[in-house]
Amino acid sequence: MRKIARGRSLTPHIRQATKDDLSALLSLEKICFKEETFHIHQIQYLLLKAKSIVLLAETDGNIVGSMIILLRKHILNARIYSLNVHPEYRRKGVASSLMDFALDQLEKKGYGNISLETGINNNAARNLYFSKGFNIDRRLSNYYSNGDDAFHLIKKL
Ligand SMILES: CC(C)(COP(=O)(O)OP(=O)(O)OC[C@H]1O[C@@H](n2cnc3c(N)ncnc32)[C@H](O)[C@@H]1OP(=O)(O)O)[C@@H](O)C(=O)NCCC(=O)NCCS
Repeated sequence: MRKIARGRSLTPHIRQATKDDLSALLSLEKICFKEETFHIHQIQYLLLKAKSIVLLAETDGNIVGSMIILLRKHILNARIYSLNVHPEYRRKGVASSLMDFALDQLEKKGYGNISLETGINNNAARNLYFSKGFNIDRRLSNYYSNGDDAFHLIKKL
C-alpha cells in the first residue's frame, strides 16, 4: 500500500462492505491487531450472516479502515464490535469519519443506545470515543485474553 504524507487530514469515502471485501477486511484486521484477530470464518459470518453493519473507509482506492456494528432483532441497541484503521493512515480523521457515518446511520434507523468495549490502556481509542460523546458505563475485569481490563462505554443518541 502506498504511503501518504503525515499530518494531512483525509475525507475517506465510507461505504457498506460486500462479500467481495472479505479478503481486504481480513488483511486489515491482521495488520491492525496482533492478538485476538478475527478468523476468516468470523469475518465471513459478520459480513454475510449476522445482523450487522460492516463499514469500510476508502481513500485513493485503498481500504484504510473498517467498523463492524452488531445489531439485535427488535431492540434498538447497537454495539460497535470492531474498529480498525491501517497504521499508515492513522491520526488523519479516518476513524472519526467512520464513527460520524455510523452514528448518523444508526440515529436515522432509530437506534437510541450505542455501546462498545475498549482496553483501559487504549488511549487512542478512548480519546476518539470520548470526543464522540461516549461515557464510561463500567469497567470489565479480565476482559481480554491477555488479562487486560476494558471499559464498557455507552452513548445515547
Ligand atoms: C483507535 C484508532 C481506530 C483511531 O483511528 P484514527 O483514524 O487514527 O483516529 P482519528 O484520526 O479519526 O482520530 C480521532 C481522534 O481520536 C483520538 N486519537 C486518535 N489517535 C490517537 C492517538 N494515537 N493518541 C491520542 N489520541 C488519539 C484523538 O482525539 C483524535 O482527534 P485529533 O486527531 O483531532 O486529536 C486506530 O488508532 C486503530 O486502528 N488502532 C488499532 C485498533 C484499535 O485499537 N481499535 C479500537 C478498538 S476498541
